[in-house]
Amino acid sequence: MRTWTVRRFSERDLDVAVGLWRSAGEHAPFPLADVVAAIRDDQPAWCAVEGEQMLGNVVTRIDGRHAWVLRLATADHSADGSGGAMLDRLLTDLAERGVRRVTGMLPDGDAIAAALDGWGFRSDQVLHFERHLDRAPDGREILRRLGGRIVEDGLWDSLAGMEREKTLIERRVILPLAQPDEAARHGVRPPHAVVLFGPPGTGKTTFAKGVASRLRWPFVELFPSRLSAEGLEGQAAALREFFEQVAAVERCVVFIDEVEEIAAARDGRPYSHGVTNELLKLIPSFREGTERLLVCATNSIRSLDHAFVRPGRFDYLLPVGPPDEVARAAIWRGYIDRITDRPVDVDALVRTSALFTPADIDFAARKAAQHAFERGVLEHEEGRAVGADFLTAIADTRPSLTKSAVRDFQEDIDDYARA
Ligand SMILES: Nc1ncnc2c1ncn2[C@@H]1O[C@H](COP(=O)(O)OP(=O)(O)OP(=O)(O)O)[C@@H](O)[C@H]1O
Ligand SMILES: [Mg+2]
Repeated sequence: MRTWTVRRFSERDLDVAVGLWRSAGEHAPFPLADVVAAIRDDQPAWCAVEGEQMLGNVVTRIDGRHAWVLRLATADHSADGSGGAMLDRLLTDLAERGVRRVTGMLPDGDAIAAALDGWGFRSDQVLHFERHLDRAPDGREILRRLGGRIVEDGLWDSLAGMEREKTLIERRVILPLAQPDEAARHGVRPPHAVVLFGPPGTGKTTFAKGVASRLRWPFVELFPSRLSAEGLEGQAAALREFFEQVAAVERCVVFIDEVEEIAAARDGRPYSHGVTNELLKLIPSFREGTERLLVCATNSIRSLDHAFVRPGRFDYLLPVGPPDEVARAAIWRGYIDRITDRPVDVDALVRTSALFTPADIDFAARKAAQHAFERGVLEHEEGRAVGADFLTAIADTRPSLTKSAVRDFQEDIDDYARA
């Protein structure tokens, strides 16, 4: 039968507690005066007691969203579950007070240290332990409110061609996040924020979703256009609130498309000052989270504020360019397989679709399929699309890219790319 209870630690408990701290050893990273002051200040402190006896106690001090464990001690018979129940109450208390990270230190080999592992604390050499907390309401609820969603498996693999871009993103971004232990062993810090830049329709959004799909992290999108609806005053506040909520989500890819709308050079757009400044301020604290990745996409990297693209905020600035011939062939093949069982000369499509983006190819492929469909329904022709349908569709499609846009993009790579 359970004979102990967990309750708040008050000043009256100090005498008994001091006895426990003595018997638990001399390790005291924070002076007793700090511990006493925290209890008097009504900082989160809990103890487990059985009658007159104190089985364990924990005293913390909150600093913003971060709590430090000033003392954590249990008597020898910690296997009775009282230590765990005490930590449970503490974590709830901290979460309710808005804390999202708990850090503490214990002597190497301390009995509690091993148990902390089971409480979701991460510890290196068992000297330093730390845990991120979900605030109430919990992360899943917030994720739902933010419109977060799980991207279907396999999206990354279905991205045709674009091998250069895929390899770069796979190695620099996905692998360190997917294998943090191996990254740490090599002193590699996983990235927290990247910019994808390139002409419209080249696949930036699709790549960002693909990263979420590969990591199996939820995908949350911030729409700059929705912020604008808040009016000038409200934009910065709305942005701040969005990031506050994201901070409560355990792991996710946050995507901001057309980031130039909120991060354009401040001298050029005096009215968006506030929101640009706010975003600049928010990124460093976003970077403190472990399993979070911010992906910003832009068609116009040169219009971004210099402070925004300076090293320190973004780990990488990665170009997502127009598909080359190999990529166009791969993308065409993907559509042909879905649309027809007739032979199609892919090389001819590749040759005639220079300056097409993946979005243009998507459009032209749909058009080819529509031709064949209409022929089937209206003229009772059974055959599916043939090469000529594709070539006609290509001729009817205006490519999004121009030679000068491709040149500008090359210049942007020289001036901005950081991989
Ligand atoms: N590698 C690819 N293989 C097949 N389809 C692709 C590929 N890349 C993009 N697409 C398709 O092309 C279209 C445009 O892609 P996406 O919206 O990701 O481009 P974007 O760069 O974000 O465009 P924008 O700059 O206009 O936001 C989508 O329909 C997408 O499915
Ligand atoms: Mg996009």
